[in-house]
Amino acid sequence: MDTFAATTITARTCINSFPRAGGADDVQSHVKFGKIGFGWNQRGQSSYKLRHKSSNRTRGSRGVSVYAMADSAAAVDQKTEKFVVPSVQKAWIYKEYGAAKDVLQLDDGVPVPEVKEDQVLIKVCAAALNPVDFKRRQGKFKATDSPLPTVPGYDVAGIVIKVGSKVEGFKEGDEVYGDINEKALDNPKQYGSLGEYTAVEEKLVALKPKNLDFTQAASLPLAILTAYEGLERAGFGPGKSILVLGGAGGVGSLVIQLARKVFGASTIAATSSTGKLEFLKSLGTDISIDYTKQNFEELPEKYDVIYDAVGQCDKAVKAIKGGGSVVALTGAVTPPGFRFVVTSNGSVLSKLNPYLESGEIKPIIDPKGSFSFSQLVEAFSYLETCRATGKVVISPIP
Ligand SMILES: NC(=O)c1ccc[n+]([C@@H]2O[C@H](COP(=O)([O-])OP(=O)(O)OC[C@H]3O[C@@H](n4cnc5c(N)ncnc54)[C@H](OP(=O)(O)O)[C@@H]3O)[C@@H](O)[C@H]2O)c1
Repeated sequence: MDTFAATTITARTCINSFPRAGGADDVQSHVKFGKIGFGWNQRGQSSYKLRHKSSNRTRGSRGVSVYAMADSAAAVDQKTEKFVVPSVQKAWIYKEYGAAKDVLQLDDGVPVPEVKEDQVLIKVCAAALNPVDFKRRQGKFKATDSPLPTVPGYDVAGIVIKVGSKVEGFKEGDEVYGDINEKALDNPKQYGSLGEYTAVEEKLVALKPKNLDFTQAASLPLAILTAYEGLERAGFGPGKSILVLGGAGGVGSLVIQLARKVFGASTIAATSSTGKLEFLKSLGTDISIDYTKQNFEELPEKYDVIYDAVGQCDKAVKAIKGGGSVVALTGAVTPPGFRFVVTSNGSVLSKLNPYLESGEIKPIIDPKGSFSFSQLVEAFSYLETCRATGKVVISPIP
């Protein structure tokens, strides 16, 4: 057991603002935090109650109903007013590699990770899924993986509840978001973000954009960092043209937005299936290509950069201008295409925060909405169809 001061935590904390982007209404869970309980009711409205020290009465409601919290005070030591960090938590784990339905288990006895001197401990409010999560669970990266059992999850949005001795940039109560693994494939953390608590180096997180709720913030880190790093590595910049393969996916939808708003693209084209062409347009594409009807490599337009989030580098190299390049996130690489593996970086997130806070760049959450914590297997099954639009998020985390 470990304790820290709970007095800095305010009612503002962990209350998501609604409506959420494309959010579903199937969430019904809560976040426990000190003496204040927060929750989402059936309609997805946020609510909270404040427990009076003496009377145990409740007051305050932001939303239609107050979500009852029976035991939220249990986490606070009443004498010292210190928040108690439990030694174990509820988290999803797998003890062997395999399919989601066969190996994922919800376990309420998972150790809460130790906080190293350069780390913060985060009470997870929301976590997004990425293809790397299921590829890792399928055993594709065994050689460089962390030991089993594993709590999956790279993307997190939550509240700092403890800071390591050398942490300077964050304090308890800060609302943060980030990708917890500096190198996606190189010894990723054993205790990921699909549990109540996760520990992460302060350099990998940033303050959450003020206008975004935890669900929206959790949808961003790995995908937006990948989008940004790929565009930078390709030397993308003002006046250049780009074709995004897989424009409707988690990474692609952010590549389109960054290319326009941050990098100053002249022309943006992207591919998707028929039903998503309008969505591509809404993100800012000039040319939307239906890959079920046209082969992009046979069209007359050529591009300075092709950002391939599908695995079609062999075709992509046929559609670049002389001197152009292809960013290949997955699949075989054909020169002059190149591959990179994303590096998590909190300062890049901080740099992008103004674009998010101004609404120029928007988090995209799949129309199926966020999945509840108990629906993780279902959420992975959906992501693994490779048909998601934007991001699949697990929220709230209890
Ligand atoms: N190297 C790295 O650092 C790195 C980082 C992040 C991701 N990745 C990899 O990049 C890939 C994409 O990641 P993601 O998170 O964006 O995946 P995602 O969100 O699951 O992508 C789903 C999207 O892909 C689209 N799609 C599927 N086949 C397509 C095709 N033939 N042409 C055009 N669009 C197609 C789908 O649109 P339709 O339904 O319209 O087909 C869907 O909207 C994954 O393989 C992932 O592992 C690598």
